[in-house]
Amino acid sequence: MMNAAKPRVYIETVGCQMNVLDSELVIGALRQHGYELTDSPVEADVLLFNTCSVREHAEEKTYSALGRVRHLKRRNPDAVIGVLGCMAQKDQELIRKRAPYVDLVVGTGQLGGVPELVAKVQATREPQLAVSLGRADAGRHEVEASFISYDPVRDPSMRPTPFQAYVRIQIGCDKFCTYCVVPSTRGPEQSRPPEHIWNEVRQLVDQGCKEVTLLGQTVNSYVYHQGDRRTRLSDLIAGMHDIPGLKRIKFVTNYPKDMTDDLLDVVRELPKVVKYLHVPAQSGCDEVLRRMKRNYTTAYYMDMLARCRERVPGVAVSSDFIVGFCGETEESFQKSVEMVRVARFKNSFIFKYSERAGTKAAERYPDDVPDEVKKRRNNDLLAVQNENSRLDHRAQVGRMVEVLVEGPSRMASKVATAAAHSPLIQLTGRTMTDHIVVFDGTPRLIGQIVRVVIEDASPFTLYGSVLTDEVVGVETARAAPLREPPRRPSRFSLPVI
Ligand code: SAH
Ligand code: SF4
Ligand code: F3S
Repeated sequence: MMNAAKPRVYIETVGCQMNVLDSELVIGALRQHGYELTDSPVEADVLLFNTCSVREHAEEKTYSALGRVRHLKRRNPDAVIGVLGCMAQKDQELIRKRAPYVDLVVGTGQLGGVPELVAKVQATREPQLAVSLGRADAGRHEVEASFISYDPVRDPSMRPTPFQAYVRIQIGCDKFCTYCVVPSTRGPEQSRPPEHIWNEVRQLVDQGCKEVTLLGQTVNSYVYHQGDRRTRLSDLIAGMHDIPGLKRIKFVTNYPKDMTDDLLDVVRELPKVVKYLHVPAQSGCDEVLRRMKRNYTTAYYMDMLARCRERVPGVAVSSDFIVGFCGETEESFQKSVEMVRVARFKNSFIFKYSERAGTKAAERYPDDVPDEVKKRRNNDLLAVQNENSRLDHRAQVGRMVEVLVEGPSRMASKVATAAAHSPLIQLTGRTMTDHIVVFDGTPRLIGQIVRVVIEDASPFTLYGSVLTDEVVGVETARAAPLREPPRRPSRFSLPVI
């Protein structure tokens, strides 16, 4: 029997890992209502756009995606078009104004209700709008209640790979950095009960997951109180560490002020915890940090960085920077350059400041750095970071690292080798310090943790050869001359941010 009768859902996701997870949960819920996923918008009965508002560019991406599907509505008036997530929460009216053919606008706190809301549109042909209370309009408890973490149904097909999954441990953010929309799009900071998280991790491992990434906007601020019991992120990690079958535990994103020693000790001591910390600095100038309301100085940040490296030898640290924030002079920008030069981050994500309506920065400070200057500063800072990334990567050459093999590299092509009849493909994965490694191996290695000797490096990628029985043979594993370096891909896979 054909299953053509099943309704089909198409989804596009932009934004951070939290959004990737939200899309998985929405698809999981729709599958329970009989839907199947399609990658063809033309064939879809329901088209969903899970959105991001962190920068204007992300919003424009969604509006142009909506523009592209507009004609589908004319062909199939029954199709349901939905906008979900951060932009839906922030701009419910504006979306309907700019794209009046949108049927469904669902904020981050209401995503669990998507199947019912879709059914309502189909039954009534009336647009449906479901968003949380604004933080300025109601008391904290009311707002909290309207941003509900649901995470009930998972959908393995929507994960980065079948053996890697995101787990939300915290929703929202209370830091209110002046440039940022996230506290209003994701609501107040709320930590999930540890038992729920541990159960979810167990369930994921039963489904074949080897690596979990714990997600929170300021993940290291996680704390859960039950009576007298207080569970911090370090306790949460310790409590899941011994789950059999779980191989790796990651967590993002860290807030510099909440990087406590108990957490660093757990990162050092527990073998499954990845030795990698993403701790955005945002700027190297105290004046700018003050206007950003980051609540720390550069001296504090550099001390914290030194403490991370002292307590977790070999730890890799990465950062985010915003260039061209309101009032950033050439002199203050040079302080960011100096910080990036000295801090030797593994990598940094660098963003041009994008003014966001409704934030304190938009209210208080003019967006006074011209776009060409932002662009130039972005390139300059990136150049300094890239030089450091290159040095960091070069230092890895000759090392043996453990890689969780994620799949074929983007440029994977079958390459013949002198060694075997078994065709090797170019694979990619990450080390315990989150370095991306590309190497040749059999597809059987996908999902395994393998040892790789690093032979070459670019600023973004390491290249190496697998050191396992499967590929080079047991007795010659160490003595074997290393094969030719794998072909370099021309594009590199970078994490979603
Ligand atoms: N919660 C995380 C990530 C927030 S968004 C954290 O606090 O680190 C990811 C990154 O986007 C931020 O670290 C910041 O560098 C950048 N960002 C946020 N708002 C921005 C804006 N208005 N313009 C440009 N970049 C921004
Ligand atoms: Fe935004 Fe700051 Fe919260 Fe991160 S900590 S989500 S940058 S407000
Ligand atoms: Fe974007 Fe929302 Fe994430 S604004 S960065 S999708 S929390």
